[in-house]
Amino acid sequence: MSQVIDWLAGTALSRLVRGEAWAWPLVELLHIAGFSAFIGALLLVDLRVLATSRTVDLAALGRFARPVILGGLAVAVLTGSLMFIGRPIEYVANPAFQAKLLLIALALANALAFHARDGIVRADAVARAQALASIVLWALVLGFGRFIAYV
Ligand code: HEM
Repeated sequence: MSQVIDWLAGTALSRLVRGEAWAWPLVELLHIAGFSAFIGALLLVDLRVLATSRTVDLAALGRFARPVILGGLAVAVLTGSLMFIGRPIEYVANPAFQAKLLLIALALANALAFHARDGIVRADAVARAQALASIVLWALVLGFGRFIAYV
């Protein structure tokens, strides 16, 4: 594992991300923009699943939010991976980073299970529990993402 990490730290891409004055701020800015769009749109859908009110059509909200959720997630994962590639030796040993990746895996598994049983249509007690789990797990991802710099 450490050989792979050492190799990664020696790549031209790694040197560019950590070496060019403009690269790191730009990538981190896009990371923040990506996860803000992702979590903002997802929160609206999760809150609607939790809410018993029928004023907002859940299926229509889900269709409207999906491109923002998937686009934001793609930008967050791509830019997060670039930051990891820029300082792999530092981040691979960072417990806050490790916890964050574990929480991202749990949150994505929860989302896949929600959609596998068509939670948007059912909107039943299980779907509400999954929506609550989604809010808690992504809030923890945000927290550990911020903690990385302090550990
Ligand atoms: C959608 C999921 C994600 C969310 C919600 C998220 C959230 C965050 C947050 C809140 C920060 C702190 C930003 C700041 O205040 O400067 C951060 C930083 C960071 N994230 Fe993510 N992130 C996500 C995905 C990823 C992925 C997949 C990776 C890597 C594979 C990653 C790697 C990083 C790194 C390396 C930092 C910089 C830490 C530092 O030195 O300050 N993130 N992320």
